[in-house]
Amino acid sequence: MTRACLVIRRQLSLCTTTKVVREVRRTTSTSLPPFSDEATLYVHWPYCLKRCTYCNFNKYIPRSVDHSVMTECLQREAETLVRLSQVSRITSVFFGGGTPSLAQPSTIAAVLQTISRHAHLSGDAEVTLEVNPTPVGLAKLKDFVIAGVNRFSIGVQTLNDDDLKVLGRDHNSQHALRTLSEAKRLCPGRVSVDVMFGRPSQSVESWERELEKLLSVCDDHVSLYQLTLERGTHLFKQVHRDELSMPGDDVTAAMYSTARRMLEKEGFVQYEVSNFARHGAVSGHNLGYWKAQQYIGIGPGAHGRFIPIAAGGVQREARTQTLEPDVWIREVQQRGHGTRRCIKLNHVDLLEEVLVMGLRLTEGITHEHWKLFSPNADLHRILGVSAEVQKLQQTGTLILDERGLQCSWGGLALLDSILPTLLVELDAYFHSQRLQEGRQSVLPQHRDGQMER
Ligand SMILES: C[S@@+](CC[C@H](N)C(=O)[O-])C[C@H]1O[C@@H](n2cnc3c(N)ncnc32)[C@H](O)[C@@H]1O
Ligand code: SF4
Repeated sequence: MTRACLVIRRQLSLCTTTKVVREVRRTTSTSLPPFSDEATLYVHWPYCLKRCTYCNFNKYIPRSVDHSVMTECLQREAETLVRLSQVSRITSVFFGGGTPSLAQPSTIAAVLQTISRHAHLSGDAEVTLEVNPTPVGLAKLKDFVIAGVNRFSIGVQTLNDDDLKVLGRDHNSQHALRTLSEAKRLCPGRVSVDVMFGRPSQSVESWERELEKLLSVCDDHVSLYQLTLERGTHLFKQVHRDELSMPGDDVTAAMYSTARRMLEKEGFVQYEVSNFARHGAVSGHNLGYWKAQQYIGIGPGAHGRFIPIAAGGVQREARTQTLEPDVWIREVQQRGHGTRRCIKLNHVDLLEEVLVMGLRLTEGITHEHWKLFSPNADLHRILGVSAEVQKLQQTGTLILDERGLQCSWGGLALLDSILPTLLVELDAYFHSQRLQEGRQSVLPQHRDGQMER
């Protein structure tokens, strides 16, 4: 799907003057993807106190953390990458991890101040922090708000204490309830909870009871994740040694649809495969990903997708920062950033992103949105004639109509099996376009400019 990668070894040139940047924007404005002047920003805090049994995220359990070095490096990398992107506005910031609630509030404040020095970060821009609901996290919530955080995402996972132990979490249900209550007091209407279903030996009935309890205490946003058995994790080994058993696909499908119905009954609107909000409390930051907007990622292992305008770039690039914190720190100290991998995204790569991310939204991809990225080929033209796509429409999983392309209620649960068909059709369309263009360019032209057939 993506093209060969290029490891960045050279120092990024950041001395480009504003005048030159404006010139790049002016001369390439027709080819730059939309929203190139703004981005969201993700900050990865790579440390945790304990390894959860199911987690394969980029996280480390250190003996100690040098907070002042981490702060300096996050600030330096934010400065480098915001300047490289030349965006004038950062629309939201998300501190994720790892366990960012282990960071010092002064680190959060320093990173936000650095961002504000290099781009406009409005006073009411969404600033989210992921919180592990331990007493340590709870004690710092107020200071995080003073530092500039205005939205919390709390990793409750489950309210079942036995399951929390199986998952290797370092909190219990009482800690979760206390943290949730304090977060709601500090940021009313702006608290999200992460919950996982499809856990070892979990039944649909126990899930219903648990969700009922959670819905009676939660705020206005819920992220619902199906537990994925990740290779290399402790849980993976336990399941393969038959020490634990995972629920079957039919059971997890029932859990998902039960949860969707229960959430809807409580006034939540599902706006994405895993995300539900009431009173309009959607995650603006995550909406940015699903709408294929630019984002900058800082911190070990963070991902970003933006145009490096200050380095003369005119195409969006997918960037990954160095995974290992000590190596990342050295690289940032030496060259201002720890970008390890950088892949240039061509027009089709970008449309793949628009398709894959956009179909996660319940509203799908509107024609207007698609047109921003693909002014010359609309969704009907690319997908409408395909027999495979028509089959998906006939089975009621996919809808392509005057609004755009979207999954039906049932289709959203099957998204992973729908996407390969759509990606094949997208690639086939642009492949045939390229062939046609190639044929036309080798045909001799008459004097009046018409092609010979
Ligand atoms: C990686 S954690 C980081 C935030 C914080 N450390 C925590 O654990 O809550 C973010 C979310 O990813 C989800 N997650 C992590 N590993 C997962 C897995 N294997 N399957 C499903 N969800 C997972 C959890 O719900 C978690 O809340
Ligand atoms: S789930 Fe969260 S707390 Fe647990 S190891 Fe992963 S990042 Fe750390």
